[in-house]
Amino acid sequence: KVIILDFGSQYTQLIARRVREEGIYSEIHPCNLSLEAIKKLKPSAIILSGGPASVTAEDSPSIDPKIFEWGIPVLGICYGMQLMNKLLGGEVVPSSNREYGRSELELLQDSPLWSNIWPENKKFTVWMSHGDTVLNIPNDFEVLAKTESIDFAAIGNKEKKLYALQFHPEVVHTDFGKQIIANFLFKIANLTPSWSMSSFIENVVKDVKNKVGEDEVVCALSGGVDSTVVAVLLHKALGKRLHCIFVDNGLLRLNEGEEVVSYLQKHFDLNLHYVQAQDLFLNRLKGVEDPEKKRKIIGHTFIEVFEKEANKLKKVKWLAQGTLYPDVIESVSYKGPSAVIKSHHNVGGLPEKMNLKLIEPLRELFKDEVRKVGIELGLPDFIIWRHPFPGPGLAIRIIGEITPNRLDILRQADKIVQNELLASDWYRKVWQGFAVLLPLKTVGVMGDERTYEHVIALRVVDSIDAMTADWTRLPSELLAKISNRIINEVKGVNRVVFDISSKPPSTIEWE
Ligand code: XMP
Repeated sequence: KVIILDFGSQYTQLIARRVREEGIYSEIHPCNLSLEAIKKLKPSAIILSGGPASVTAEDSPSIDPKIFEWGIPVLGICYGMQLMNKLLGGEVVPSSNREYGRSELELLQDSPLWSNIWPENKKFTVWMSHGDTVLNIPNDFEVLAKTESIDFAAIGNKEKKLYALQFHPEVVHTDFGKQIIANFLFKIANLTPSWSMSSFIENVVKDVKNKVGEDEVVCALSGGVDSTVVAVLLHKALGKRLHCIFVDNGLLRLNEGEEVVSYLQKHFDLNLHYVQAQDLFLNRLKGVEDPEKKRKIIGHTFIEVFEKEANKLKKVKWLAQGTLYPDVIESVSYKGPSAVIKSHHNVGGLPEKMNLKLIEPLRELFKDEVRKVGIELGLPDFIIWRHPFPGPGLAIRIIGEITPNRLDILRQADKIVQNELLASDWYRKVWQGFAVLLPLKTVGVMGDERTYEHVIALRVVDSIDAMTADWTRLPSELLAKISNRIINEVKGVNRVVFDISSKPPSTIEWE
């Protein structure tokens, strides 16, 4: 495996994914991991990520220089390059002009790093993002490439298998970036690809069988890609000893509950417990308008319903959850030595309360890998590519009070949005698209009659990780079609507006 030491770059996860795309398993660890701890991980190669700090600052993060004497190939990227350079006797200085974005790289020397890359004029585009500049390199290193503004854009020591790049090979804007990473893995570290989703499935099935023995396992199924992949994967290992609880909270999209459940039952023979709790949820939400109150009521009620159902299953000792790798990675603040550990529970608070052991089969995977596992398991497109849907469901898309009538209006409008995004091929291109019902009425005219009816807002956004998002520039014809259909087909709506706010400062959901 390849160990990536994280110095806080926004691209660190991208490095890990690029390595995995080459069929090599990679893990991200905080940069302050001791050399001893690193050795215990038995890496076959190490990559030092970029980061926001400056190696010229006093308290900047560093590593044990012995890492370079241990015979393991190391690739430093950006901050990683500056650090390697400084620790091995080179010189780094703050530069007056920050270099950011496109730059033209010129190759100066043949190197295993440039294997299968040698364009006619020896030049290609790379992506830079740095403030400091390498002034001198260690004596035993060679310059492999430069750009117009910097003399040392890539350096290396062939014998010691130490390489460093000032640019970012992991971003798509760098030409041959994929090839450079592959060259480091295969031409320099001499690794053999072994990480694939089918081998992942085999291993999980084996591990789960070992771990669980004759016990039974319970999981919450929401119909989203993560929980569905967990369910189908564990079903492969445990068969009927896996119990999937699907709670219908009355806040799902039109027919969504039935669709998912019947599909999974038909094709995978899951041991499925479909709990109809619509009335309970809707009763408790009566008269509630405050968004946080809605979320709390739904969260607590979910746990209550789930626990009650799970407690009926006497042999269950384990709870399975769809935690993903980005939730597990320890992130390090470059300013201080203390590691900030993010912990995340998809079904908040369940394991602590229920006295069950936790099983998280996806905790090594990135989202795109979960989708690949899903495809490998034979799940259909409508599950694999389903947009994220919040736990509190339509409750946080009905601004104001939730009533059966308002739920019905939103469901119909939302169905049209989903159908039109799918029909126009925009569904797969956007992060999320949905309708929101506003708590106001406006005047309209239909036929010769005055109308006074509800407003639907359309929210469609692009995003990579939901942390930031921008509204999707949908073609106006598509917007017109969605608007026309909603106003004509959904009784009680006479106006549609399009949300053109980005996140931040807005959020994706309205509540
Ligand atoms: P916001 O509205 O915070 O949403 O920009 C970011 C992403 O998270 C989803 N979301 C939720 N998902 N439970 C969930 O499982 C929730 O309570 C929840 N609230 C928001 C939202 O749909 C978007 O993808």
